[in-house]
Amino acid sequence: MLSEEQSLSPLYERVEHAARTIRAHFDEDVRTGVVLGSGLGAFADDLEDSVALPYEEIPGFARPTVEGHAGRLVLGRISGSPVAVLQGRFHFYEGYSRDEVTFPMRVFGLMGIKAVVLTNAAGGINIGFDQGSLMIISDHLNLMCTNPLSGPNDARFGVRFPDMSEVYSREFQEIAVEEAKALGLELRRGVYAAMSGPSYETPAEVRMLRTLGADAVGMSTVPEAIVARQLGIRVLGLSCITNMAAGVVDQPINHEEVMETGAQVRDTFRNLLRRIIPRLSTV
Ligand code: HPA
Repeated sequence: MLSEEQSLSPLYERVEHAARTIRAHFDEDVRTGVVLGSGLGAFADDLEDSVALPYEEIPGFARPTVEGHAGRLVLGRISGSPVAVLQGRFHFYEGYSRDEVTFPMRVFGLMGIKAVVLTNAAGGINIGFDQGSLMIISDHLNLMCTNPLSGPNDARFGVRFPDMSEVYSREFQEIAVEEAKALGLELRRGVYAAMSGPSYETPAEVRMLRTLGADAVGMSTVPEAIVARQLGIRVLGLSCITNMAAGVVDQPINHEEVMETGAQVRDTFRNLLRRIIPRLSTV
């Protein structure tokens, strides 16, 4: 619950308050942030010298309502690099507002974070993909029927009309490819379509998305990526293809399957993040 004073103060001040609270718990220069998607939360356990803050202890943070999203910020180090990891995110389909969904990303921005890794579970649309494939996001289609930046713009966050010609840093994509190669891992690359959910897509919608150029579909990531770009944060997007999208294979989709595939790729995913993250703060 926000106190009356907090809910009345402007967004920027609320974000600053959250950033200050976090810094009081972890006094290091954190340059890299990570958002862990459904079923991918285990990576937070790998942090060294870590401090975990449940979202209820961070002023202004909402609470995730979805199974598979723990709801804590873990601060620590990966191979010596300080990192802030959001174990659980907020989605529009939970009923959260634009500002609530993107609040943690704005907090990252005011903490001085310059690079983020956004991870998610997604349905595979590209028929060359398999359940369990990992995909680097090269670009996105925002089909959520809303934009996180609509409404009044506070110029302290960034410009009114941010450029979106390279949302997902090409340099970061190359780092991910190199590190996957070093692990002998095949990474796909493709366009992520964001739908608002929470129902999964129909087979007709999946055919539409394929025609539009999508390789995978999910219900997150894009609002965070847009807000990150407005803040000047560079983004790496990684999708775990937890299932083939509706109609691609003749099989219904359920959240348990999404979680199970996340668990199956857990170690691969962990190893990859562990190699990529220390490099993002050096470029
Ligand atoms: N569609 C949308 N979101 C998803 C899917 C899907 O098939 N799988 C995991 N998240």
